Amino acid sequence: ALVRRTVFVTGAVDLKGCPSPDRGECAFIGRSNVGKSSLVNMLTNRKSLAFTSKTPGKTQQFNYFAVNDKPELERQIRYGDDVGGSKDRDSFYIVDLPGFGFAKVPQKQRQQWSDFMEEYFAKRKNLKVVFHLIDARHGPTEEDGRIMQKVGNLLDSNKTTYVVILTKADKNVKGADSEKNPGKVSNKVWEKLLETMKANKVGYAPIVLTSANTRLGRDEVWKYLRLAAEV
Ligand code: GTP
Ligand code: MG
Repeated sequence: ALVRRTVFVTGAVDLKGCPSPDRGECAFIGRSNVGKSSLVNMLTNRKSLAFTSKTPGKTQQFNYFAVNDKPELERQIRYGDDVGGSKDRDSFYIVDLPGFGFAKVPQKQRQQWSDFMEEYFAKRKNLKVVFHLIDARHGPTEEDGRIMQKVGNLLDSNKTTYVVILTKADKNVKGADSEKNPGKVSNKVWEKLLETMKANKVGYAPIVLTSANTRLGRDEVWKYLRLAAEV
């Protein structure tokens, strides 16, 4: 099995609050409500490991989950036991980020998340994969475009893989043409996505269609998750 167990480690609000970079990690970024936390649950076979909500702005910290850790880590986290050596060969971290673009989150808070994200992209040495989630029905917003640009500038593409994920692909769309694009995405959205990616210099990135409900795309996303485990 790819995923034996997953535990919540910590919620970080700055780089100092992140666990020591002793293994690879992958981050899930995207607009508020796009389905980041739901996808984390789907990928780890858990119902409510990461908390989800109908209301945007649910995730408020950089939430760290340890995948395939030895059980000792849980004790270490809960009781502060220093057991050491809890990292297994294929351990890695999943990081579920707060969403951007939600007007009801106070500006000061949004700025803090945005600053942290920038620093995180630039400095987190063990960051192996960045998954950028975009709603399959709506396509990228202007803010998604700006994030792509940042990613293109900040990430060292030799060491970090950038992947675009189209979420909620179980929902029906109008105007999908299976000859032109691989899933139930309208041609308009598909063209706009390719255009936005190209304009922001991430045209090389793979695109994966997913659904947390039907589990569409799970195996393909795991191909990239596995990169985080190979340190
Ligand atoms: P923030 O934490 O606010 O940034 O949101 P998030 O990106 O973590 O979104 P979350 O996973 O909380 O999901 C938001 C809403 O979308 C919830 O009501 C989910 O049930 C729904 N949702 C997420 N993924 C899917 C999906 O694949 N299909 C459908 N139909 N709904 C989904
Ligand atoms: Mg969330």
